[in-house]
Amino acid sequence: MRAGRTTLGQERALAELGPHYLIPYRTGLLDWQHTFGHASQNRLRILEIGFGMGETTAHIAQLRPDDDFLAVEVHEPGVGALLKKIGEEHIQNIRIIRHDAVDVLDQMIADDSLDGVHIFFPDPWHKKKHNKRRLVQPDFIQKLCSKMKAGGYVHMATDWEEYALQMLKVLNEQERLQNTSKTTEVMEDGQVVSGFAQRPSYRPITKFENRGLKLGHGVWDLVFVKKHHEASFTQKAI
Ligand SMILES: C[S@@+](CC[C@H](N)C(=O)[O-])C[C@H]1O[C@@H](n2cnc3c(N)ncnc32)[C@H](O)[C@@H]1O
Repeated sequence: MRAGRTTLGQERALAELGPHYLIPYRTGLLDWQHTFGHASQNRLRILEIGFGMGETTAHIAQLRPDDDFLAVEVHEPGVGALLKKIGEEHIQNIRIIRHDAVDVLDQMIADDSLDGVHIFFPDPWHKKKHNKRRLVQPDFIQKLCSKMKAGGYVHMATDWEEYALQMLKVLNEQERLQNTSKTTEVMEDGQVVSGFAQRPSYRPITKFENRGLKLGHGVWDLVFVKKHHEASFTQKAI
């Protein structure tokens, strides 16, 4: 799926559109209103982690013109590809940071500030000895959760069943998050699992995913929301 080299078109997009749509990584909180150039404070702030070649990002941003999308990816050809799309399709509500998303979260995103987080098909690291490299782990989710507003959502998708189960477990174990789905389904090995979501209509089915679906492979979506502060209410009541 990932193109190894930057094409000429991507390079041109990096040179011409980079200065406008690429936000340099820095240690200091991002000013969303200034970055996106909008006067309105009412726009939803969505972070996407690991957008690959950016097809899904561009699709969703066009479908949801009233929301702002901060798209983070380390892979240069992907950044070039999304910039090219932004130029071709005149997309105004995406900004890109080419850097490790964990650093971006740590340094540039304020606590309780995100309305939504998208993590689509994160690298599955299939081999057992590489599983620890997976992005979705308890510490990461704890961090992510602290950056989300109460009522904000995190939406993940994967086509790797075992990673899907790991995501479900890690998200379920984060007590500040609540699953939006109670749907039950039968997994490939026959076990019955509850909590995967229907694909929200804004997430398009990519070509890659479609090929897998045609071959009978599964895809799992997960959508969790951050609960409102019950703890502080209880403390106040005491
Ligand atoms: C398997 S690809 C999926 C791409 C895309 N979301 C899609 O659905 O096609 C995972 C992407 O996440 C990126 N990635 C992995 N870890 C990352 C990190 N810590 N920060 C930013 N991007 C990351 C990789 O470079 C890769 O492009």
